[in-house]
Amino acid sequence: MIPSLVVALDGPAASGKGTLARRLAEAFNLAYLDTGSLYRATGVATLRAGGNPAHESDAVKAAQSLDLSNFSPADLRTEEAGVAASQVAFIPAVRAALLDFQRNFAKSPPGGKSGAVLDGRDIGTVVCPDATVKIFVEADLETRVQRRVKELREKGENIIEARVRADMQARDARDKDRSVAPLKPADEAFTLDTSNMTADEAFAKARAYIESKIKR
Ligand code: C5P
Repeated sequence: MIPSLVVALDGPAASGKGTLARRLAEAFNLAYLDTGSLYRATGVATLRAGGNPAHESDAVKAAQSLDLSNFSPADLRTEEAGVAASQVAFIPAVRAALLDFQRNFAKSPPGGKSGAVLDGRDIGTVVCPDATVKIFVEADLETRVQRRVKELREKGENIIEARVRADMQARDARDKDRSVAPLKPADEAFTLDTSNMTADEAFAKARAYIESKIKR
């Protein structure tokens, strides 16, 4: 079966795309894949094996033998996992190892769903270039830092704001400057800047945009 609706949501860390993707999946009855979790799991698996996430052979080994059942959501949402994720994501062979899983998810969404929402950095440009709808979610650095600080503190992580800012700047730079699948809007993507929006406002705008695309 050809999926009826594939939504590609890309954007930088803490732009609000995860929350938005989950809500859109529910509203349109679509399967949801957080592709960042694949890179996070690869990063954490590399660290668990005593490897270095920036070293190709260590990271590729982890990506090729990835078993998502070894990771709880809490294992993957730490700042350390995010940094390791952006290091393994820089390596083209790691990206290649994770590509089929993502494409298959979009092509044959699980749970009997007729379509899928995928969020990440390169969904509209590389993973699903034929997606029905492409949205690029943005927010300015300071807004994203404050969102991430709040999220981590609510989880009880003892973090230093300046460190979160420095990590986010380093991750932004790695994500944008890498040679394979850099973070950038697809040509036809709708850009949604959530800096001054509540989650409800971002959801309403994205839903209206998707509805306008699928009615055509
Ligand atoms: O979205 P999230 O912050 O969970 O992603 C963690 C890291 O994984 C990102 O900083 C990025 O380097 C990488 N990533 C990617 N391509 C994707 C999803 C995530 O390179 N499609």
